[in-house]
Amino acid sequence: MSKEVFNPNPEFSKQARVKSMDEYWELQNRAKDDYEGFWDGFAKEKIDWIEPYNKVLDESKAPFYKWFVDGKMNVCNQCVDRHLKDKGDKIAILFEGDKGDVEKITYNDLSKRVNKFANLLKENFGIKKGDRVVLYMPMIPEAAIAMLACARVGAIHSIVFGGFSAEALKDRIEDASAKLVITADGAFRKGKPYLLKPVVDEALSLGGKSIEAVLVVKRNNEEIAWVDGRDHNFNELIEAKSDICDFELMDSEDPLFLLYTSGSTGKPKGVQHSSAGYILWAQMTMEWVFDVKGDDIFWCTADIGWITGHTYIVYGPLAAGTTTLMFEGVPTYPDAGRAWKMVETHKVNQFYTAPTAIRVLHKMGENEPSKYDLSSLKVLGTVGEPIDPPAWKWYYEAVGGSKCAIVDTWWQTETGGHMISPIPGATPIKPACATFALPGIMAEIINSDGEPKEVGETGLLCITKPWPSMIRTIWNDDERYVKSYFSDAKKDGKAVYFSGDGAVLDEDNYITITGRVDDVINVSGHRMGTAEIEAAVKKDDSVAEVAVIGVPHEIKGESIFIYVVLKDGSNSEDIKSHINSILSDEIGNIAKADDIVEVPGLPKTRSGKIMRRILRAIAKGEEITQDTSTLEDPSIVAKIEDAVAKVKK
Ligand code: WT7
Repeated sequence: MSKEVFNPNPEFSKQARVKSMDEYWELQNRAKDDYEGFWDGFAKEKIDWIEPYNKVLDESKAPFYKWFVDGKMNVCNQCVDRHLKDKGDKIAILFEGDKGDVEKITYNDLSKRVNKFANLLKENFGIKKGDRVVLYMPMIPEAAIAMLACARVGAIHSIVFGGFSAEALKDRIEDASAKLVITADGAFRKGKPYLLKPVVDEALSLGGKSIEAVLVVKRNNEEIAWVDGRDHNFNELIEAKSDICDFELMDSEDPLFLLYTSGSTGKPKGVQHSSAGYILWAQMTMEWVFDVKGDDIFWCTADIGWITGHTYIVYGPLAAGTTTLMFEGVPTYPDAGRAWKMVETHKVNQFYTAPTAIRVLHKMGENEPSKYDLSSLKVLGTVGEPIDPPAWKWYYEAVGGSKCAIVDTWWQTETGGHMISPIPGATPIKPACATFALPGIMAEIINSDGEPKEVGETGLLCITKPWPSMIRTIWNDDERYVKSYFSDAKKDGKAVYFSGDGAVLDEDNYITITGRVDDVINVSGHRMGTAEIEAAVKKDDSVAEVAVIGVPHEIKGESIFIYVVLKDGSNSEDIKSHINSILSDEIGNIAKADDIVEVPGLPKTRSGKIMRRILRAIAKGEEITQDTSTLEDPSIVAKIEDAVAKVKK
C-alpha cells in the first residue's frame, strides 16, 4: 500500500468549510454520539421546510427506514425557487454544446422554464403526483429542466441513459408503468448529429403499452418519424405555457426518482430515492466534498442518465445554489484538449470525472493540460471505479498542478450521494484511496457476522446505520430490496446495508476500495451484471451455454469477456459480431464484449456449478491454482485454454 501522503493545500484549507482532521473528527464524533441530533441539525439548517417533520428517523419497519417523518417540502423549491431572492441573476446552468455553442441560464430563467415545463406536464399530459415519467434525453438543458419540472409536480422521473437500446428502454418503461416519455430528436456528438427518437419509436413498438404520449424536444432538427396523436412537439407547445406554477407539497418520503441499475442477479432494479433525505445529502456533499461557494463554477462530466449526473450535475449543485456546467459532447473532441480548454474558458473551479476518462485523456494527451490556463481549479474529483496510481498521479500533477486536492469519492446509485471521500481542506490524501467515511456515514469493513476486519484484511464494505439519502426500496419489489442489500451482513444481530464492494483498511485507518465481490462488473464506470449479459446472449437460438466475466482493461478498468458454447450444428463463423449485435440490441453498445471465445464446454462441478474462477484465470492468462479434479470433466480446462490462445493470437 502506498505510503505517499499529500497534505491539503494550506491556502485552500484556510477558507474551507472543514479545515482540518480535527474538525472532521469533531463532526464525525458528533454523529456517533447523537446520530439523530446530528441529522436533525443539518436538516433544519439546510432544507426549506414548508411544514416541519415530527421525527428525524423512524426505524420501526427496518430496513424500510423513514427520514424526517411527515415533513413537507419540494425538491424543485429547494433547487430553484428559494434561490430567486438572492441569486436570481446568477447563472444556474452553464451549457456548452458539442460544437462549442454556449447557453447561460440564470436562476430566474431556470425558474420560468421549469414552471412552463411543469404546466405543460400537468395541462397537456395530465401528469400528477406519483406518475412515472421516463426521460430518454441527451445532455441538453431541457433534460435538467424536465427533471426539475417532474419534481415540481410530484411526478417520479426515471431516466434511461441514451446509450441503452430500445429493448432496455422498453423494459424500464414497463417495469415502472410510465405514462409519458420525454425525449429529443437527437443531439450532437463529435461534430455529428445522432438520433434518439427512433429508439423510443422502436421501444414502443416492442411494448411499453402504459405510455400515453411522447414529448419530443428539438435539438438537432434531423428528420424523424412522427406518430400523430402520440408524439408532441415540445418547442411548439411550450410557447403558450404560463411561467407561473405552484409546486406540489411533497412528503419527505415521497419518491423523487427511480434509476435502474444492475445487480448480481436478474434484470435491472429500479432504485427508488426519496425527496428530503436525498436532496439534503446531495447539498451537504456539494458543500463538504467539493466545498463550492460564492461564484464557483462546478463541472461534473457524467451523463444525467447515471446517478452521478442526477446528484452532481442537477440536484446537488442547484440545491447548493451554485453554477453547474453541463456539456453535451465528449472530452476528446475535437482533440484531447477539449476538457482543459473548457476549464480555461469557463474558469472551472471543481472538476469531477471518472477514472476511465482520466486514463483516456492521459493516454491521448499527456501534455495537453500544460497548454491551457487551469489555475482556476481548486478541487478535482473522481468516481465510479478504483483509480490506478499512475492515472491519479497525472491528474494530481498535470491537471491540478500539485495544488488541488483529489477527492476519490466512493458511492453508488443506491447511496444517493458520496459516502467515503476525502474532504479537500482537511484530509491528507493518498493516491487511489477513498480515505474516510464522510461525517454522518457509518462505513465499516466487516465479515458477515459484523466482526471488524484487521488492518490489511479485505472485508465487506457495509454501512451500519441508515442515512438520509439511502435507497428506500426497489420499485415494486420490497423483497428484492431486502435480499439485495440487507441479507449478507449483520451487526449486533441487526441486518446492515452491504454495498457489494470489498474494502481494506491500512495502518492509518484509511479505507481503500478493492472492487465488487459479487457478479457485477464495471466497464468504463458502467455497472453491469454478468447474469444480465448472459441472459441476453442466451436469447440467441444458437447458444447452448454462456459465461460472462470481467477482465482488467487498461483504459476501461474492466472489459467483458464471454465464453460461449454453441448448440450442435450452429454456425460459429463471425460469432463475435453476431453476439455483439445481440448485446447491442438487448442492452446497448456499452454491453459489447471485447473478447468472445467459442469453447466446447464450460468447467462445471459434478453438481453443475460453473467454476468461474477457472474461467477468470484463463481469460487473464493466469495460472490455474484451484483444484480441477472436482470438475465433471477436468480435460475441459485444456480445451478452453487452447480456444482462448487461438483467439488471442
Ligand atoms: C459502484 C457503484 C457512484 C457513481 C458512479 C457509479 C464502484 C464507485 C468508486 C471509487 C472505487 C468505486 C463501486 C460501486 N465505485 N466509486 N471511488 N472507487 N470504486 O455508480 O453505477 O451505482 O456503481 O462503482 O464498485 O459499488 P454505480
